[in-house]
Amino acid sequence: MPIPEEFIQELKSRCDIAEVVSSYVTLKKAGRGLVGLCPFHNEKSPSFSVSPENGFFHCFGCGVGGDVISFIKRIENLDYVEAVKLLAQRAGMTVPEDNRHEGMAALKTRIYEANREAARFFHRQLYAPGGKEALAYLRKRRLTEKTIIHFGLGYSPGSRFELVNHLRSKGFSPSEMVQANLASLSRNGNPFDRFSDRVMFPIIDLRGNVIGFGGRIMSDIKPKYLNTAETPVFNKSRNLFALQFAKNKAKGRLILVEGYMDVIALHQAGFENTVATLGTALTQEQATIIKRYCDEVVLCYDADEAGQKATARAIDILRPTGLKLKILTVPDGKDPDEFIKAHGDQGPARFRRLLENSGNDVEFRLRKLRSRFNTEITEQRVAFLTEAAKLTATLENTIEQDVYISRLSEELNVEKNAIRQMVRKYSRYQNREYARKEQREIQRKISARDDRINTEKTFHLRAANAEEALLALMLTNADVAASVCPALSPERFMTSFNRKVYEVIRERIGRGADCTLMNISGVFSDQEMNAIAGMLASHPREPDPPAAAREYIQVLEDESQMLTPEQIVAADDQTLMEQLQKMKEKKK
Ligand code: GTP
Ligand code: MN
Repeated sequence: MPIPEEFIQELKSRCDIAEVVSSYVTLKKAGRGLVGLCPFHNEKSPSFSVSPENGFFHCFGCGVGGDVISFIKRIENLDYVEAVKLLAQRAGMTVPEDNRHEGMAALKTRIYEANREAARFFHRQLYAPGGKEALAYLRKRRLTEKTIIHFGLGYSPGSRFELVNHLRSKGFSPSEMVQANLASLSRNGNPFDRFSDRVMFPIIDLRGNVIGFGGRIMSDIKPKYLNTAETPVFNKSRNLFALQFAKNKAKGRLILVEGYMDVIALHQAGFENTVATLGTALTQEQATIIKRYCDEVVLCYDADEAGQKATARAIDILRPTGLKLKILTVPDGKDPDEFIKAHGDQGPARFRRLLENSGNDVEFRLRKLRSRFNTEITEQRVAFLTEAAKLTATLENTIEQDVYISRLSEELNVEKNAIRQMVRKYSRYQNREYARKEQREIQRKISARDDRINTEKTFHLRAANAEEALLALMLTNADVAASVCPALSPERFMTSFNRKVYEVIRERIGRGADCTLMNISGVFSDQEMNAIAGMLASHPREPDPPAAAREYIQVLEDESQMLTPEQIVAADDQTLMEQLQKMKEKKK
């Protein structure tokens, strides 16, 4: 571990997990701890708990958990060292420099640096003689000087070696350029620029790092856009274009569009709460991120068929998060950028009007639904009504439901009350379905988690439970840990994962070091931390810790006397009789 332990110690004492988590999740007091809605999966009732006392969080729903560092790693999508740095910054501390420049963290840093250097280079090229055409292109697309600078737009020269040469002069190796996906290697192993003769859109994350680029060709040559491929710092499904600007302007609402140019045109028109995906369909992860910054999303995709399909898909992904959805359809088959541009000075005001009049997603889906049925034919009318009632039932607000019920009633000439009854029936059904689905999902995740981390648990259930209770006790009670460790051999642990945790605790106690969840955080993987936080969360405070510890140790002693299934098969009669006797005693 590159970061000195004393530093982690100090960081720990300065970072209150409740305070850190509270800046992402609304927490309420519950017993000795705090609870809230889990930021890592979609849920309607809180199963996310935080224990300020013992410095850990755990979600009973999706099984994630850990200490304050695990939390930051997960929510900010960082590695261990980056998370420590972020927390240190928050606490006003400086992480001692790690001079072993190796490993993933170091590579990421180099890629961020190469990207930043490339972004500066591209931007300068826009104003160089070779960038004349690109600058004219952006101006033709009605982008102002201010916008070009604000978004750091640029131009990649067509020669295929200018960026590479520039990066080399700044000390970047061909390997770093390739790993940043700024260069490719030719057949004889020489790097050449990946982006050539394109207008460049830097993609920037929430911490201001340049993580990748989109590059648009200025002619009809395909592909129109070339994007950075996945790199150690660029993940298309976990980032959104312009979120670094939009998150501060959201005021509860984000506008989601398809393209970079749409985002830029809308920001320029004053709609700075606009973001876009990075050339791919919206993902669950992006939906979760969006949910962190607003409670309403206006979907504003292109009016073409592809755009409508993408809208339907995005609705399916956003809806379960509980976000309110609105659908803005730009008229005349234009995209938002074209619309604003076409209306000149009036563009922003016209767009604002579209925004104010945008309908919710039920309206959008009802319209799509209606186009599938011929309501002149009785059977089809009934089928449409049934589907429409199901759809209306997805609205949580009954007043909102009634608006659609009235419309359907008028349109289909069916008694309002009849439709209302149908809708209410489906609402009840849906709530039950939802609860069941959530429950199943929880079950699935919990069992999957156990399987992955402690595969032996199912074979030694009683022992494993005692092991976990004992580990939880030791991680929260220094006195117990100090008295157990010299007396209990790691061999008493029947499952190897729990034994490993015990050995880590024992090693620390042995040399007089502190032993809480945070102290052992660097040693375990994210999944392992989930499992350990799970142990803490499922074993609340014992009234008499030393007595409880003795009891768990006794269970381990008992269990270690028992034969394993393989031993039973191989055992002679005498041994089997003894085993049976032991089992009888245990039952008593
Ligand atoms: P302009 O034509 O410049 O206005 O772009 P647009 O944003 O209107 O383009 P479009 O609606 O065609 O595409 C939306 C988004 O999809 C773009 O911003 C890109 O992120 C992505 N995209 C479009 N064309 C391509 C392509 O050829 N390759 C890749 N990888 N992505 C593309
Ligand atoms: Mn466009």
